[in-house]
This record gives sequence, structure tokens and C-alpha cells, in this order.
Amino acid sequence: MASSLPLPLPARLTVPTFVQRKAERRPLVVVTAYDVAQARLADRAGVDAILVGDSLGMVTLGYDTPLPVTLEDILRHTQAVARGLSGGRRGPEDEARGARHALLIADLPFGAYGVSVEEGVRHSVRLVAEGGAQAVKLEGAGPVMLETVRRATDLGVPMMGHLGMTPQSLHRFGGFRAQGKTDEAADALLAAAHALVAAGVFGIVLEVIPRALARRVTQAVPVPTIGIGAGPDCDGQVQVLHDLVGLAEGPTKKHARRYVEAGRLLREALAAYAHDVRERRFPTDENSV
Ligand code: KIV
Repeated sequence: MASSLPLPLPARLTVPTFVQRKAERRPLVVVTAYDVAQARLADRAGVDAILVGDSLGMVTLGYDTPLPVTLEDILRHTQAVARGLSGGRRGPEDEARGARHALLIADLPFGAYGVSVEEGVRHSVRLVAEGGAQAVKLEGAGPVMLETVRRATDLGVPMMGHLGMTPQSLHRFGGFRAQGKTDEAADALLAAAHALVAAGVFGIVLEVIPRALARRVTQAVPVPTIGIGAGPDCDGQVQVLHDLVGLAEGPTKKHARRYVEAGRLLREALAAYAHDVRERRFPTDENSV
């Protein structure tokens, strides 16, 4: 249970300052990260929050879905990201800009909650106490989820909700399909958002739902909505890091944008290394002791 994080921790975005951004109408920038290097890059880029999402399963562990991801997987990667945030020294120019460390949110994976309230609360506590997360996210708004949110929040674990195309329910949806497209489904999603707020969430991710519904929810709830494939009217946006930087396989998702072809750049760099070794151009005397 011992944390290896150095104390005192540097100033970071907190849950209250995250929530305040809704009233200030300053869009919240959230991105996933799964290791030290990614955490440092995202934090130094100035994102507001980092999510150790169960997308870990697909982009890092090589599964087709997030369903095999375990609590131990999320815990291990949350610890790595937390070390990246607490260990990275900021330069004077960052300080001058008033830069702060990103809020760290960890995902509860499939089966780690929802079976019983006690288990969900216990696992949420572990992600904070052992993982170094400042907040925890879960999907859905069933009675067990709502009670988990209530109890964990009571214990001091800020909880974030997640509605719409919640990937852990992919078999119920028949695949990664857009949600909230009928009037009934839209009304049910809005009711779920209100129920999550009443239970105590400090924010709600809205994934792959119609823009109009995302706007309706955003206007209706007092906590920030963070969209992914839910249009520009949410209070913030979240993206999977690999989708943004060209490390994901296959075509760019409709709801993402590639800002750099990092996959191609890295492949070229590794090919240059391989070439240099084969041609005996690396290492040179400069690289020798
Ligand atoms: O697991 C994840 O990365 C997520 C985001 C896409 C919201 O839940």
C-alpha cells in the first residue's frame, strides 16, 4: 500500500478547480496516458487532466476490447503516470505561464465495480491510495454504480461518470455503436446524467452521442461534461493519446484528429538506427567509454 511519490506534491489542478472551469466557460482538455513518458509529454503540453483509461487494453496491451483489462493493470499504469507527473521538473518558462500539473483520473475497469458496491468502493480507494489518482471514473448509472459513486465520494474519492457509448457495454450495444439516437434513449441518458450528479459525480464523460444531446446534457447539469465524439458543445474534450499522435493502427477515427504522424517518425528513426548498426556507423568513438 506504500506510495513511492515524493512529498510534498507539486501544485496540481484539483477537482474543485476542474469543476470551476464550467462556470468560467474555459474548455477542459483531457487526454489519456499510460506511462511515465506519455504523462510528462501531456503534462508539459499543458493538458488539464490525464485519464488512465481502460483504452489501455487496446492501445498498450494489444487486446481488441477493453474488457480483459484488470484493476491491477490500471493500478500499475496509474502509478507510472503519477510518477511521471510528480517527478517531472518544470522549467522557468512553464512556471512563468502559471503551468500546473494535470489532474490524474483513473478508470475502473470492467468487472471491478458494479458487481457489488463494496467492491467498487474498495477498488476506487485503491486507485487513489495505491495508484496516486486524484479521481476515479466509472461507466453507467445503474443502482450499484450510483451507490458506488455516493459511498466513494463520501470517503473522499471524487468520482467521474461516463455515459453514451460506454465501451465496457459493447456486447450489450452490439459493438462500438453511437448511443442516444432516439428520443427515448436521449431522455434516458439525460435522466442518467441527473442521477449521477445527484449521487455526487464531479464530471461526466459523454461518448459518441449526438451533438444536440450532448449540448442538452451540458446545459442541464452543473458539473463539466467531457465529450469524445459528442460534438463541440461539451465543457471539455477527451481523446486517446494514440489517436492524436498517429500511434493508433488503422484509419483515424471520425471523432479524432491526428496532429502528428509519430508512428511514421518513430518507424523511420528505428529504421535509421538499424541501418547504422548494419553499416557499422553506430556506435562510434563518441558513444564509447
Ligand atoms: O478508456 C478511455 O480511454 C476512456 C476515454 C476514451 C473516455 O474511457
